[in-house]
Amino acid sequence: MQKELTAKEAAHAKAVREMFAGIARRYDLLNHVLSLNIDRRWRRRVSGALREILEDPTARVLDVACGTGDLSIELQSGSKAQVYGTDFCRPMLMIAAEKSAGETSPIHYLEGDAMRLPFADSEFDALTIAFGLRNLANVTDGLTELRRILKPRGKLAVLEFSAPIVPGFGRLFNFYFAHVLPRIGGAVSGSRGAYEYLPDSVSKFPNQKKLAEMIEATGFDNVSYQNLTGGIAALHLANKL
Ligand SMILES: C[S@@+](CC[C@H](N)C(=O)[O-])C[C@H]1O[C@@H](n2cnc3c(N)ncnc32)[C@H](O)[C@@H]1O
Repeated sequence: MQKELTAKEAAHAKAVREMFAGIARRYDLLNHVLSLNIDRRWRRRVSGALREILEDPTARVLDVACGTGDLSIELQSGSKAQVYGTDFCRPMLMIAAEKSAGETSPIHYLEGDAMRLPFADSEFDALTIAFGLRNLANVTDGLTELRRILKPRGKLAVLEFSAPIVPGFGRLFNFYFAHVLPRIGGAVSGSRGAYEYLPDSVSKFPNQKKLAEMIEATGFDNVSYQNLTGGIAALHLANKL
């Protein structure tokens, strides 16, 4: 059963949607520049973890909060499964669709809110959400909604910024993230607020261990995670109970 958003959650969702609409055209460039292209490697880790499902021509895989579609495209490349992408920010989704225009096996993009996904129960063999979960108005309710549309034993993959695990490196990275990134992101995108929101939202998001516990508490098992680039990001994997 999908829950209604509270007024505070609805206001958060609106602000997030407007923020991504404002930076949509610069989003990809900044992602690759600010991460020194490491984001591409992280997305490949997600597709690698889902390889078996992606090789199944009967499987359906949904990339939630797909944004401009980089993970959806990575999932689709070399895949036999049907890949879908959904996001609630139309300007981001339009860029995703432009990037796949003319492809022979298109990705099916649909506008949709991760808190109230426009899909029936138990529709998908696998779900991914990359740098999206942190932006949801309510992480636990978001995980519950993801679980709803997964088939029993279906696989969830969450790629998200996390807590660096190497102390010296962590301090250096946190300085870059809090002080350098907002300046570059702000100058290039014209929206410093969006690139201040990024480190702020990461600092409020649960670390890898806590997120694993939250995923398990929402009705998943086989919960595991891999630290990526010293824990700057983490990939959590789980199966619907
Ligand atoms: C940081 S971007 C990540 C995009 C993409 N997954 C990637 O890896 O580049 C976050 C995306 O989450 C989307 N998003 C945030 N909250 C959402 C929600 N409630 N429903 C659907 N999309 C949402 C935003 O519109 C944005 O496109």
